[in-house]
Amino acid sequence: MATFTIKDNRTGRSAEFEVLDSTLGSPVVDITGLHKELGVYTYDNGLGMTATCQSEITFIDGAKGELLYRGYPIEELAEKKNYIEVCYLILHGELPNSDQYESFEKDIRIKSYPHEGIKNLFSAFPDNGHPMAILSSAVSALSAFHHQHLNIKDDEEFMEMARRIIAKMPTLAAYTYRHSMGYPLIYPDMDRYFTENFLYMLRAFPTGKTEISEVETRALDTIFMLHADHEQNASTTTVRAVGSTGAHPYAAVVAGINALWGRAHGGANESVIAQLEMIGSVENVDRFIKRAKDPNDPFRLMGFGHRVYKNFDPRARVLKRLRDELRDTIGINSKLIEIADRVEEIALNDEYFVKRNLYPNIDFYSGTILEALGIRKKMFTPIFVIGRTVGWITHLIEQKRDPKQKIYRPRQRYIGKKRRSVP
Ligand code: SDX
Repeated sequence: MATFTIKDNRTGRSAEFEVLDSTLGSPVVDITGLHKELGVYTYDNGLGMTATCQSEITFIDGAKGELLYRGYPIEELAEKKNYIEVCYLILHGELPNSDQYESFEKDIRIKSYPHEGIKNLFSAFPDNGHPMAILSSAVSALSAFHHQHLNIKDDEEFMEMARRIIAKMPTLAAYTYRHSMGYPLIYPDMDRYFTENFLYMLRAFPTGKTEISEVETRALDTIFMLHADHEQNASTTTVRAVGSTGAHPYAAVVAGINALWGRAHGGANESVIAQLEMIGSVENVDRFIKRAKDPNDPFRLMGFGHRVYKNFDPRARVLKRLRDELRDTIGINSKLIEIADRVEEIALNDEYFVKRNLYPNIDFYSGTILEALGIRKKMFTPIFVIGRTVGWITHLIEQKRDPKQKIYRPRQRYIGKKRRSVP
């Protein structure tokens, strides 16, 4: 039990609250009755010290730099499994046997075709619209084409709804890219695996053969896997908040897409490459590091720092290894790597970053690999969306299954005007 005592003269009361153990990580204090007992609310700017739900999906140890999906370390999954196997694991809680995998993977292929009507949506957008604006509109349209899932009671129906959005996200993202390039939209190819199919839909033309190497497919598959879920990050919290009102599950995912777009969150991967290009040379790195450290300069080192990781982001470690392995195979831009390596070398030894536990995060390395796969910067965050969709929809299912889950309704500390009369 935890005892809270308010020592000032306003209430001066004490009360006890239950401490709930977690399977891994810190226990939590259940403060459900706090206001009733002590007449106060907690104030936690950014919710960094607040557990908003209970979950079995993912665990992060920020101090150790550890990330587990359903108990499995991300490093081992990245080495031994593919993205669709990890999607099954995150959704169902266990890795699939061969029959389960075959049936799941086949259903994902079949569901990769969106309703033909959605294609018409793309022609309404200007070709220079940001892909995240177009993608979130297209996914929002999904809730119009699949409105029958407005009130899910049947578990299998929810799983069907989950497989549908996981399968369609790459197709909608590819349509978004093709429209922005003025290229014809390419249908998914039923003979290709999820990740290979996405690269195919980005690159293919109505005539001619499209070559996609195993190495490229494996690289992108690993990137999807590393982005699959990450506890209660800003976009997942947004998805849960919208889901808690009973809104359509795809409407909740759209809210997550828009939260992810911000450069402090999923939009950072696009900003990392833009920043490395802006730095332009190894010689300029010192000047930009100085700016990042200047409290009066809003410049931030994109791809560095994290709300939870106060050590290396384990996903960044996997991506750094992958980037160095692929350096010559897929022709990663060595100039950008030289600048990135110099940024990392200085930042990891500079007192400002060391004191603040600022380490490279997943976004610091993903961009150079995506760029080498011929994927344009503006498509980096849609790639993050494809990977993260399984996490978002699984958190929604977990929330629906929790009979105690309430609508999100935090309180505030009011610092406005006292009651006054209109003159
Ligand atoms: C993702 O939550 C998740 O799990 C997210 C994510 C996921 O998978 O869903 O992991 C994906 O969003 C990764 C993060 C991508 N964002 C970026 O790379 C953008 C650059 N990073 C920063 O904007 C920042 O580090 C945040 C937003 C990630 C975290 O911001 P916080 O919580 O304010 O960081 P902090 O409290 O740890 O900051 C401590 C200090 C502050 O300075 P002081 O007030 O102590 O003087 O470090 C400074 C910050 O100003 N700081 C930085 C910095 N990040 C923090 N200074 C320079 N460059 C940076 N990148």
